[in-house]
Amino acid sequence: IPVDPFDLVVFGGTGDLARRKILPALFRRFCAGQMEEGTRIIGAARSDMDDAEYRAFVAEALIEFNGDHSGCEPGTITRFQQILSYVTLDARGDKGWGELAAKMHPGRVRAFYFSVGPSLFGDLALRLHQHGMADHDTRIVVEKPFGRDLASARALNKALADHFDESQIYRIDHYLGKETVQNLMALRFGNMLFEPLWNSHYVDHIQITVAETVGVGGRGDYYDRAGAMRDMVQNHLMQLLCLIAMEPPAKFDPDAVRDEKLKVIRALGEVDPAQIVRGQYLEDEDKPGYLEHVENPKSLTESFIALKLHVINWRWAGTPFYVRTGKRLKARTSEIAVVFKEAPHNIFDQDSGRHRNILTIRLQPNEGIDLDVTIKEPGPGGMRLVDVPLDMTFTEALGPDAEDVPDAYERLIMDVVRGNQTLFMRGDEVEAAWAWTDPIVAAWEEREDKPLSYETGSSGPDEALALMHKDGRKWRDIR
Ligand code: BG6
Repeated sequence: IPVDPFDLVVFGGTGDLARRKILPALFRRFCAGQMEEGTRIIGAARSDMDDAEYRAFVAEALIEFNGDHSGCEPGTITRFQQILSYVTLDARGDKGWGELAAKMHPGRVRAFYFSVGPSLFGDLALRLHQHGMADHDTRIVVEKPFGRDLASARALNKALADHFDESQIYRIDHYLGKETVQNLMALRFGNMLFEPLWNSHYVDHIQITVAETVGVGGRGDYYDRAGAMRDMVQNHLMQLLCLIAMEPPAKFDPDAVRDEKLKVIRALGEVDPAQIVRGQYLEDEDKPGYLEHVENPKSLTESFIALKLHVINWRWAGTPFYVRTGKRLKARTSEIAVVFKEAPHNIFDQDSGRHRNILTIRLQPNEGIDLDVTIKEPGPGGMRLVDVPLDMTFTEALGPDAEDVPDAYERLIMDVVRGNQTLFMRGDEVEAAWAWTDPIVAAWEEREDKPLSYETGSSGPDEALALMHKDGRKWRDIR
């Protein structure tokens, strides 16, 4: 469904995120016919460029990062270029702001995407206000990292709140834009089947894995100051955990959903240091190890973390959540597995083994949902039991349309334009997540814990496997 023409400004419009994600996402929505004539996308950054140079710059980025756009009509890139323009701007000075203000169309939705480091958030908010671009039709989009601890997140919230209302602030966590993540809510709250079992009486434990094969790439500087806990757990994994653990909201509206997520974060218990495993990847043939990558041989930052958490409330007391994420692992795979308890009494052969239902929500790749159920092994061999998956791979079940799922950024940017905050983090949620993270990080920093080493292409340090083994449980394979 096309949206009314809007003005979108990308601060940091020549940066890496703009090239890789934001501009390709906008292009794909344009190609899908979602942008009405008259929509304007304005890149703004420090570099000196004119409109023509920026258009050429964007076309290059689209060729490099857009993947398959064979579905677009020929000439779409040229038409997309026509809606682009550029302003050279100084975030901390006056240069460019008058020119930017003159480009705005009165009465339209305006979105300002802060694709810049958080140290500039306050300056941009102030300048937008000073130059009359902060009225009620204005929305601002801010990227992670939203601070590096509670104090800095609070300061950022305050700097934005000085000029914008919370209803105008869209804090991106791109995991919330992933198709299966939203499907998780449909699965839980659109079906009668799961919700009655969704508690510690029936669920033995929950596992959340976000495994990557890439290393820290060219972001060593940022990453070494963050580590897997701040980079992934405090935000992406926390959001997944919230959607799994939250109570049903009364309606699917932004505050109802975010109120319930906030309650989950506030119910998280302290984490015992013995239930945390941190690691750093080793070098592999021609690929540098973590320490070389970040050019800091003494680094104590983790590129892998596994931890056991507790959501201490009526629904979840007694059901642990095991979460892990890391770089340079065996495969790129993200999934959530809800592992149910065994049946209370086995009426079959004692040697028929242990059987459990497992509901797996696959975020990537092969987005879909599996439910392992126990059935009789076919054949005359007696009552032998076997677990088989009831597999719902979206592309198989829903046909080729399911292959066209928009990338997370496409969905989220269009939600900004439509004014729907459901899939964005509220200020209090982010602060609560840091309030939980801070003491955990402070404790290992104070002890100067050294992360364990792990092989590239492995599942992380063996101690992470032991974290579950000692509870009589087992991580699912990273495949
Ligand atoms: C980013 C992290 O937020 O998410 C990166 O900063 C990480 O370190 C990335 O690689 C993972 O996102 P995705 O969508 O590829 O799973």
